[in-house]
This record gives sequence, structure tokens and C-alpha cells, in this order.
Amino acid sequence: MKKPTLVNHPPDVSPPPGNQPVIAPIYQSVKYEFETVDETLRMLRGETPGYFYMRASNPTTRQLELTLAQLQGRDDCLATASGVNAIAQTLIALTKAGDHILFFIETYGPTRNIIRRLLSRFGVENTMLSIEDMAGIENVLAARPTRLVFFESPTNPVTKVADIERLVELAHRHGALAVIDNTFAGFHQHGEYDIDLFVHSLTKYASGTGDVMGGAVIGKRDLVDDLRPDFSVLGALLDPHAAFLLQRGLKTYFVRYREQARASQAIAEHLAAHPAVAKVHYPGLATHPQAALAKKQMREAGTVVSFDLRAGSEAARRFSEKLELFALTASLGSTESLVMAPQLMGSRDFTPEQARQSGIAPGTVRLSIGLEDVGDLVADIEQALVD
Ligand SMILES: Cc1ncc(COP(=O)(O)O)c(C=O)c1O
Repeated sequence: MKKPTLVNHPPDVSPPPGNQPVIAPIYQSVKYEFETVDETLRMLRGETPGYFYMRASNPTTRQLELTLAQLQGRDDCLATASGVNAIAQTLIALTKAGDHILFFIETYGPTRNIIRRLLSRFGVENTMLSIEDMAGIENVLAARPTRLVFFESPTNPVTKVADIERLVELAHRHGALAVIDNTFAGFHQHGEYDIDLFVHSLTKYASGTGDVMGGAVIGKRDLVDDLRPDFSVLGALLDPHAAFLLQRGLKTYFVRYREQARASQAIAEHLAAHPAVAKVHYPGLATHPQAALAKKQMREAGTVVSFDLRAGSEAARRFSEKLELFALTASLGSTESLVMAPQLMGSRDFTPEQARQSGIAPGTVRLSIGLEDVGDLVADIEQALVD
């Protein structure tokens, strides 16, 4: 073998059977080969397991997918390049012109854009209600055939808790699929409900450290198998390097979530007792409007705490800028604490009535609680509240 040949066919150093790496390696290979055309065809027809081309699947991403499916209590998963990618691909794969989607004001902004702007260009119709408008939800589902109901719980940023059992029952009674963006609740929650598909931004709790993006859709195998061809042909799947980092992040998921939720509860209680604060939005507080529902549906109330400052939007801006330990930026679920000012939330697309229903007040601030010492976080909030 001449040297130019050697560098393209390097020595095989795979560990022998019985001598496996404890951490699965990153399979950074676009192509997977078989010895024969027939073996390749059998694999491509799904008769034998295996891999062929990274865009369709690869072992590193597959390990992450199977881990996430089990965490969420379902059989299968597709991991994607970002959370919005998982949402967009799922909605594209499930709908066709003339279908109708029911979704909510209290939905992540880019998801609303995917439904209202992108899908409507292809003739997919939609109705947007408030997640609290149960009568409206029943009326719409009874009035028109609906392909799917897309919802979040707790919602962003004011942590409204959707009545999942009722929503799913209503959706199924009217022949619609129930799809939840479960990013806020996490992979260990809501699995016991008869939700058809869970979408997640892996950028949040799976990463944990906020240095990698990803998304996932999780569900029963048949439904995920129906989605797979569109995901593959549109090039949506997560690359192995990001999958490796997300798999690594998941090792500490439960410990992080538990600690961050515990700190969130303490901070929510602290804010609730502060005279400058009109209202605290946290599902773990007894004063939360759906506290009983949250207790029934959630083992942990999440790591996002929002609150309304009595003094309004400029005071909320000053508060957000004065914080020293909270980064003024998007996202949540990181080990560093984050803050969002009211000027950066809400939507210019909302009518005044929809803006009111969104629950975002002029002084609403959203905190995402990290893994810093909770005493330090409380002290930082205290100093920033001095206006
Ligand atoms: C509830 C929710 N869903 C989806 C996303 C989108 O995820 P990504 O940023 O990974 O695309 C986000 C991001 O903030 C989110 O908060």
C-alpha cells in the first residue's frame, strides 16, 4: 500500500470485543459501508439494522435518541439540529394543505411564526386561542376538523399550567393529535399523559451548560416512523458531535434539574414577600392560579421564575440591567442564571386583547435559575430591586 492509499485507509484500531469504551465514541463518519450490495439493500429496506448515510441516522445521534425516548417514556425519537427545527419539521411532516392546527397565544414566539407565517403559505390553517380558554378550545374542536393541537406547559414566560389530561382528551375525542412542547417541564415529566408527540429544545436542559444546540421529537414508534422520511430528506437530523455533547449533558440532568428547581422555589418565595413585587409566576407557589393542577401534573415545578414589578417596564429594565450574576439574554435551563427584560418579550403581532391574555405585564421579568449558590442569587436580586 502506497502512502497516499494508506492515509485514506488507515489501520483499524477498533477495540476488540470485550474491551469497550465506557463512553461511546463520536462516530464522526458520514458513510457506513457493507461488504455487499445485497446487505446494503437489506439494511436500506429496514430488514436488518445498520447505518448508511449520516443524514439519515448515525450511532452517536441514535444513542441520544433512544436515551431521550426512554426518559420521556416513549419508544422512539428523532434528534434535530435545534428545538425550532424539531417543531417545524414535526408540523411540516404532520400537515398538508387544508389541515387545521389549534395552538395558543402562550406559545414560544418562533413556533407561532412557523404556524402562522410559514405553514399558512402552504395552505395549512390555524386558530390561536389562550390556553386558559377551555370553552373556546371545545368550540373550535367541535366546529372544525383539526389535525393537531399544539401546546406548552408551563408556558413562557408566565408559567401558566395547561390542563393536559383535558386537552389531550378533547383533542383525541375530535380526532386531533396532541403535541406538546415539553421544553420547560423537561424529559422526566408529563410522560404519563396520552400525549402523541413531545418536542423539546435540547439546547436547554439536555445541554445544561448552554454551549450546544439541539432539538427532539419523541413519541410512539409508529408515529415517529411516519415522521422519519421527511426529517431525513429535509436534512434535519442532529450531527454526531452535538449529539455527543448533549448525551454528556444528560448525565447530570436530574441533579441539575432538582437543584435548579429547589433554588427556583426559594427565589419565588423570596420574591413573593418583596414589597416591590406585585405578582410572582411560579407553579410551585401555593398562590399560583393552577397550583393544584401543577401539583398533580408536575413532580418539579421548573426552573423559570417570572414576576411583575409594581413600578412597571422601566423599573423592570433597570432591574434586569443591574443584576450581576444573571446574564441578560435568551434561553433557559443553563447552569448560569439568566434574565429577560419585558422589552424583549411578548409579540408585536398580538392584538391588545391577545397581549392582555398572554399575561405579560409591563413589569414582567423572567428569571432562569442556574446552579450558583442560592444565597448569592437572592443577594443579587435584592440589590437589583433597590431602585
Ligand atoms: C419553549 C421553547 N421551545 C422551543 C425553543 C426553541 O429551541 P432552540 O433554541 O433550541 O431552537 C425554545 C427556545 O428558547 C423554547 O423556550
